[in-house]
Amino acid sequence: MDESLETVLVEFDEDSGVGTLTMNRPDALNALSAQLRDDIVAGLELLEEQNEGADGVALRAVVLEGAGEKAFCAGADIGGFSDASAGGTSARSHYDFIRDFPAPVIAKIDGYCLGGGLETALACDFRLASESSTFGFPEVNLGILPGAGGVQYVTKIAGPALAKELAMTGEHISAERAGEEGIVNHVYADDEFEDEVDAFVDDLAGQAPLAIQAIKKSADMAVHSGLEEGLAYDNQLFQELLKTEDHAEGAAAFAEDREPEFDGK
Ligand code: COA
Repeated sequence: MDESLETVLVEFDEDSGVGTLTMNRPDALNALSAQLRDDIVAGLELLEEQNEGADGVALRAVVLEGAGEKAFCAGADIGGFSDASAGGTSARSHYDFIRDFPAPVIAKIDGYCLGGGLETALACDFRLASESSTFGFPEVNLGILPGAGGVQYVTKIAGPALAKELAMTGEHISAERAGEEGIVNHVYADDEFEDEVDAFVDDLAGQAPLAIQAIKKSADMAVHSGLEEGLAYDNQLFQELLKTEDHAEGAAAFAEDREPEFDGK
C-alpha cells in the first residue's frame, strides 16, 4: 500500500509487515501543523486497517520518519500556535495515539529532533538516530515549556537535571549525548544509518506480534503504576500469551532447532 495524505506519506510492505509514515513538510523542517498531527493519526489508522481480515497480525512495526535532509521534526509549527499546535489537550492526541498504538512505533531520527518533534519521538517505542542528529526543547526561547509532557518524560528517562538543562537552556544536545543519557536507543554512523535501522526494524517485525503487543502494554504500564500492580498485570498478559499459537510455534521451533514463523495468533 502507498498512500499520500496531505502532509504524511504512508507505505506498507506486505512481506515484512512494516509500515512507514513520513512526515512530509520538509520546507518547514516537518514542523507539526494541525494538519500534520491529524495526518499522523490518519496514517496510523490506515496502517492498522492492514490487520482487518488478515490471518493473524499483518502490521508488525511502524517506522516514523521526516522527509528531507535536515530534520525528523523541528517541533510545533511556530506559525500555527493559535491552533493549539504547541500545547493544550488537543496537542496530545497524536502522542497518545502513538503510545496506545498496538504495533511498536520506531522514530527514525536523521537531523533536528526538537520540541514537539522530540516529544513525538518520546511517544514512540524506540528512537534510532543518525550521529549528526540533534535534540532539544527550544520552547523556552518562546516563553513556554514543552506542551506534551517532554519535561516529564525526559525526567523519567534521564532524571531532572537533563530535563531541566534541555528545557531551561533551549540548547541542542548531540545524538551521542542523547544516546548516553538514554534518550535514544541507538546512534548509528550517518553512512550506516539506513542499513542499521532496516536491520533493527526487520528483527522487530519478525518477533511474535502478540508478545510484542503485550510487552508494549507492560512497559507502558510500568511507567504509570506501582510494582505490585505491574507484576499482577504482567502475570495476566503471560497467562494469555501461553495460550497463543505463536507460543506453541516458538516452543516447537526451539525443539526442532529451526527459526520460528509467527503469525500473531
Ligand atoms: N515551525 C514553523 N516553521 C519552521 C519551524 C517551526 N518549528 N522550524 C523551522 N521552520 C521553517 C523555517 O521558518 C524555515 O522556513 P523558510 O525557509 O520559509 O524561512 C525553514 O523551516 C528552514 O528553517 P531554517 O531556520 O532556515 O533552518 P536552519 O537550519 O537555519 O535552522 C532550526 C534550523 C531548527 C535550528 C531553526 O529552524 C529553529 O530554531 N526552528 C524553530 C524550532 C523551535 O523552536 N521548535 C519548537 C517550537 S515550540
